[in-house]
Amino acid sequence: MTSEARLIHALLPLCTPTEGVQEINLDYAATTPALQVAVDAVTEFIPWYGSVHRGGGLRSRRSTDAYEAARASVERFVGCPPDSSVVFVRNTTEAANVLAAALPPDSRILCSPAEHHANLLPWRSHAVDYLPFAHSLADFLEATEGRLCDAAAAGRPYRLLAVTGASNVTGEVTPIGELTRLAHEHGALIFVDAAQLAPHRRIDLTGLDVDFLAFSGHKVYAPFGAGALILRDEAVRGGMPLLKGGGAVRLVTLDDVAWGSSPGRYEAGTPNVVGAVALGAACDALAGVGMERIAAAESALARRLWSRLDALAGVSLLRLWPDATDRVGVATFILAGVDSHELGRSLADDWAIAVRAGSFCAHPLIAHLLAVDPGHSQALLTAINRGEQISIPGAVRASIGLGTTEADIVSLVTALAHISAEARGVEDVGAAVSSLSTAWQAHDPAAAPGASGAAAEKL
Ligand SMILES: Cc1ncc(COP(=O)(O)O)c(C=O)c1O
Repeated sequence: MTSEARLIHALLPLCTPTEGVQEINLDYAATTPALQVAVDAVTEFIPWYGSVHRGGGLRSRRSTDAYEAARASVERFVGCPPDSSVVFVRNTTEAANVLAAALPPDSRILCSPAEHHANLLPWRSHAVDYLPFAHSLADFLEATEGRLCDAAAAGRPYRLLAVTGASNVTGEVTPIGELTRLAHEHGALIFVDAAQLAPHRRIDLTGLDVDFLAFSGHKVYAPFGAGALILRDEAVRGGMPLLKGGGAVRLVTLDDVAWGSSPGRYEAGTPNVVGAVALGAACDALAGVGMERIAAAESALARRLWSRLDALAGVSLLRLWPDATDRVGVATFILAGVDSHELGRSLADDWAIAVRAGSFCAHPLIAHLLAVDPGHSQALLTAINRGEQISIPGAVRASIGLGTTEADIVSLVTALAHISAEARGVEDVGAAVSSLSTAWQAHDPAAAPGASGAAAEKL
């Protein structure tokens, strides 16, 4: 581990169990452990817990102040422009649903097909078109521009382009600035699903000119239950709130309602003030250390992860855009001859390594990357609708974060080398595994991000 990574670990301690079985966590893309500062902020706040925006007592005023201070922390974290609001939601999924409800009915939406379900399904209440799967980032940008341009030229511009900031399957980072420019040029707004981007990259909405962005607290080292939707107020003025109730309104009569303005308009009901406090504390802590520093420290580890996995016989890393140079620390792979669910179980039970196995709530993308025949997908749908228990094709994902060390990566690769050697019927598994370090040297380039040592012989 570099001294910079060690320093970041020291500056941002995580709240992790001190007793019981110690497991290596390589599942940060699913959920991150909470930062100790987030836990401390909650502990300090809990005694003052009271209603937010609804009472004159001391607890209520302190709770309101804490809630609004948390909002200001999120604003700073994402570089929120003055014409935008931070709406507290439960998570990224809720954020996309809130935005979908706020858009005019039957809005035309252009969506990448490589999205998490959270950024696919909410748009189906509108008129959604999917871009084709592109085999390179350059093709993706060209296809997006083409669709936006054709729609505008036909006098039916898209209202919204919905894309991820970083893929939860491949880790590939989307060039948000460029897509925002393209969207705006052709009359569309842009929504960025930053669930995987926010933990790993600095976000500056003011500089990027992005209209809508969402992320989840539980992926940025806060506990579950709070996330944020940042929205450009003007773009959803008059939008319908997803949740209707107290706090979202200015006046209600028995047959009419005057909705409030953003952000309260989209936060009906008593808010999760504890979650917001934790999220605010996490955002402050991450911004305090600097997301650029975190990104730099993680990228050295991520390159190790990719290159070492790439060096293993039988391992195929899944990529969508081989030309994408910026990737967050996510590695999704399959191991020849080993069922992915079984591999995930074995890593957890036999090696105490937590990864994720499955299709990562991105079924269309996984089906595409694993070259699943559309007919097979249809057969699976039919079987599910008949009530059959079936297994969906999947892969294994290892993902890194603030607590990851180089030793964690070595442990994963060593475990995989064992499992792979056994699956291939290698007689001397021990010798195969001990020759790993030689292979790593060949595969461990002082590589540019995204490069691999695939030219060298695999172990
Ligand atoms: C890219 C991406 N978008 C959206 C989500 C949904 O996040 P949440 O479950 O917190 O709503 C995830 C979760 O894994 C994700 O990785």
